[in-house]
Amino acid sequence: MKMMSRLTALTLTAVLALGTLSGCGNTASSGHKQIIRIGHNQSTNHPTHLGLKAFESFIEEKLGDQYNVEVYPSELLGSQNEMVQLTQTGAINFCVASNSLLETFSSNYTLFNLPYLFSNSEAYHAAMDDTSITDPIFKSTQQAGFEAVTWLDAGTRNFYTVNKPINTPADLKGLKIRVQQSPTNVEMMRLLGGAATPMGFGEVYTALQSKIIDGAENNEMSLTDNGHGDVCKYYSYDMHQMIPDILIGNFAFLNGLSDDERAIFEEGFQLLNQVQREEWVTAVEKAKERAVNEQGVQFLYPDTRAFQEACQPLHESMLKAQPDLEPIYDAIQKYNELYQEPQS
Ligand code: GCU
Repeated sequence: MKMMSRLTALTLTAVLALGTLSGCGNTASSGHKQIIRIGHNQSTNHPTHLGLKAFESFIEEKLGDQYNVEVYPSELLGSQNEMVQLTQTGAINFCVASNSLLETFSSNYTLFNLPYLFSNSEAYHAAMDDTSITDPIFKSTQQAGFEAVTWLDAGTRNFYTVNKPINTPADLKGLKIRVQQSPTNVEMMRLLGGAATPMGFGEVYTALQSKIIDGAENNEMSLTDNGHGDVCKYYSYDMHQMIPDILIGNFAFLNGLSDDERAIFEEGFQLLNQVQREEWVTAVEKAKERAVNEQGVQFLYPDTRAFQEACQPLHESMLKAQPDLEPIYDAIQKYNELYQEPQS
């Protein structure tokens, strides 16, 4: 297990100690409210935080006599990898993790990490809203101590670099590009010809600034909300991935809810999904505007075909390694076909 940073460990110890001192540990006891801790790695302006605050208000409105929801932004409880482990053990109740990271906990998650899995955002949203597609994946980690309860939009991932415009995969040659810590992402970079540098999200800004890496890949929000656009001036819409963020919950906690409570939590998860996705649309528009006008980022629109062809072997290798995922993969292709047709 990766060592937690000293600061993170201290913050976490303080947070958990406060809970214990105030008599509000993870176990509900009569006369005390149970604290529900939710961690994520985005800022307080981010759609994910706004969605989680709506979830907090909803749960406290419906079940406020029993639960007190606390949302911890900005990696206060650790990096995503650390937060997943804390959720697994029940040290915290929920966290938001990129689907990318979850493939190391259950290989089923590899499916949603495939580059060019979805042909456009309509197909992506429709597939992720289809529980016959998500359930087999979301429930596959129960034995590992957690399950996914809803997905959140994280847009489209694209390459951005300090000073070299990326128009074809050949432009990535020799560049060190930060990727998320997942085998699929490392392999994707190998296939595209760049040098993958896996690291946690919180480390990317400093790595860009100190030129340890030449670029990264993410949605538009990372340019503004995380300041990457202060350093990277070329953002290239190669559209290689649409990777959802996933709210995961400790399985024992979820299982311990009564049927009525669970129904209220499910409503809360839906509300979170809805608020986050609505906020996402305007947040991305604003990020793009700010990146152009205030950070001087140039947006490029390359032909995506060469990128797509280079990544195709990843689809074949996943289907070969996990033939049980083929029906779900095929169901996604149906959405791709449906939304490929011109909309009337
Ligand atoms: C996006 C995503 C995060 C993820 C980050 C990353 O911002 O929403 O969940 O951590 O990308 O690249 O690590």
